[in-house]
This record gives sequence, C-alpha cells and structure tokens, in this order.
Amino acid sequence: LREMDPVHYVHFQDGQRGWLVTGYEDGAAVLKDARFIKDFSKLYGGSMDGMSVFTQNMLFSDPPDHKRLRGLAQKAFTPKMISGMRGRIQEITDTLLDGLEGKKDVDLIDEFAFPLPIIVICEILGVPAEDRDKFRLWSNSLIEGTSGEAGVSVYQHMTQFIEYLGQWFQKVRANPDGSLISKLIETEEAGDRLSEKELYGLVSLLIIAGHETTVNLIGNTVLALMAYPDQQDMLREQPELVPQAIEESLRFNGPVEFSTSRWASEDLEFRGKRIHRGDVVVVALNAANHDPEKFEAPDRFDVLREKSPHLAFGMGIHFCLGAPLARLEGEIAISSLLSRFGNIRLAVDESELSWRPGMIVRGVKELS
Ligand code: HEM
Repeated sequence: LREMDPVHYVHFQDGQRGWLVTGYEDGAAVLKDARFIKDFSKLYGGSMDGMSVFTQNMLFSDPPDHKRLRGLAQKAFTPKMISGMRGRIQEITDTLLDGLEGKKDVDLIDEFAFPLPIIVICEILGVPAEDRDKFRLWSNSLIEGTSGEAGVSVYQHMTQFIEYLGQWFQKVRANPDGSLISKLIETEEAGDRLSEKELYGLVSLLIIAGHETTVNLIGNTVLALMAYPDQQDMLREQPELVPQAIEESLRFNGPVEFSTSRWASEDLEFRGKRIHRGDVVVVALNAANHDPEKFEAPDRFDVLREKSPHLAFGMGIHFCLGAPLARLEGEIAISSLLSRFGNIRLAVDESELSWRPGMIVRGVKELS
C-alpha cells in the first residue's frame, strides 16, 4: 500500500470517508499540518462538552485548548522531572525482578512489563497502585473495544472507571496530598483553567496512555532481542547501547500502530489527493517507520542503526507527553533484565504468541 497508494482512500462502514497515510514523509506532514484537527465537534457545530469524558483531553483538542490542557500536566513530565525518578523506577524494577528469580516459566507481560509502568504512573498521579488490575481491565476495554468479560459491556467498564475516579477525587478533595491529582483538583476548584469533565479526561488519559503503551515497548523489545540473539549479547557487553536499542525497538515494532484520528477542517489538496472537509485522516505509524525511503533495510532490527527519527511517539503539537518517561522505563527494564538473566528464551514457539486485538496497540497478550 505504501508503494502503490501511500495516501489511500478508505470508505468506512459507518459512511465516514477517510484516508490512511503510510509513508514517512507524508505521515510526518499530516501530524504537523494544522488543517488536520482533533476536535471533530467543531466541524459539526457545538463543542466537545457533550462528548464522553474520555475525549475531554489534550489528545482530542486543538489550540488554544490543547496548550492549556497539556500545560497543566507538562511540568510533571519534563525530562528533568523524569530523570529525577530514575532511582524509584530502578527500585520498582528490582522488586519485580526479585519475584521472577528461581522461576522457570514466567509470563513476562503479566509479571513485569505490565506492573512496572502502571505502578510508576499511579505513583506520579497519586492513585493506589494496588488497584492496577482494575485500571488494566478498564483501559484494555477502551483500547481494544471489547470488555473481555462475558456479559459485561465496554460501556459498563467505562462507567466503573469514571465512578472509581469520582470517589478517589472526593477523597483527595477532603485530604489534599500534594500529588499530581491533588494539584489538578486545586486547579479545577480555582476557576476557569480546568473543568470537572476535563479533570476526568486528563487523569484517565494519563492512566491509559501511561501504561498501555510502555507494557508493549518492554514486551516488543524483549521479543526483538530474542529474535536477534547477537544483539542481545552485544547489549549485555555494552549496556550503554540500551537507550539506542529502545529507539530501534520503537521504530521496529512501535507499541502504537496508528495515530489517533484527525479531521480535515477544510477541503484541501494533499499529495495529489482531494481531501474533503470532515474526512478522517490516520497515519500508520509503524508502516511509516518501515519506509525504505527513510530507513535503510527497514525490516532489520539494528541497534547500531544511525540516528532513528521514527514516528513512534507521533510528531508536532501532540508529540507524546510521556516520551521521556517511556524511554526511561524501557531503558531501566531492559538493562535490568539483561544484567540479571543470562538466558532469556521463549517457552513456546513464536507462532503460538497471540497479539492483542484492536487497531491501536501492537503487543503480545502473553510472553512466556
Ligand atoms: C500522545 C505513543 C507512552 C502520554 C502520544 C502519541 C503517540 C504516543 C503516537 C500521539 C498520538 C497522535 O498524535 O495521534 C506512545 C508510546 C509510548 C507512550 C509509543 C510508550 C512507548 C506514554 C506515557 C504517557 C503518555 C508513559 C504518560 C504520561 C501521552 C499523552 C499524549 C500522548 C498525554 C497526548 C499528547 C498531546 O495530545 O499533546 N503517545 N506513548 N504516553 N502520550 Fe504517549
């Protein structure tokens, strides 16, 4: 598709018209182009107010709301703030890896790749990490579009998630604790910078984005290193190359398959195609990251590849807020795994691995 029709017309079942962009340069151009907007309610009149709280956040906003909402969380995620968390992330990693010592068969997703990022994001926000299995259930439901539980709908999970947050906010309102949530609640109470719906939207986005993706960064990196044992050995000998391995893993098998949707705010011409106002445009991030015009031998995992300006974290104003955190978690997780375990192998055949459903995330369900 990337070679034959890199800006490809798609007619969705619900009657919407859309475009799938698969090349690197075209994808980067879409992500930076202000004519492709996120707040689709503007196209149909009204505002996002009537929409679900899960869309009341920076990822579904355009300037100036985007800047205001991103600004409220940004301070907690700057590279400086994040590098200050190195010691704590290492501590959590070591505790989780202690639990794996002596075990022969381990599901690395369940026992390591999932708990690490969710514990970290819960600590940053100030929500109890013990409730992480609930967050996992609810956010998997939202991301995969299926509840995974017989007789329970995605909508019921969403309602439970919102109720949980509401009760937690009440507790923190009564006893402010200096956490990020506590600060956001103060902002909400202080006036016009954050509405109540936006508070729910921001916190749920951070919980979901804060772990759904990094789980798969860890899992996909381990998978790549098992497929390329020479590079696994090289990283054991030269651990200073691990950050480069994380970048290559993000390019090679990025945890987010497609960008979120953008909508054309006007009739426009893009790469020779006539795009109409209201058309949906989506960038296939992993396809763009395997574009041979940008990356030499793109289907080879190569830690020593020269600088890798991939699109795994997006580009432009919606560039991933959590990129410094995800990179640090990935680096610590992989370095620690490699230094403690000399022989990491799959207990099952690679063809038996099952990949997570849905179009958004790329990662395996289990890694045993
Ligand atoms: C945005 C990927 C980890 C928070 C994005 C986008 C991508 C992405 C592709 C842009 C989507 C678009 O433009 O349509 C990833 C990957 C991660 C990761 C691959 C891990 C390897 C995290 C973490 C957090 C986070 C740990 C936690 C704070 C966000 C937020 C946005 C975002 C808040 C929206 C930014 C905005 O709209 O301005 N991420 N993410 N992400 N990510 Fe991440």
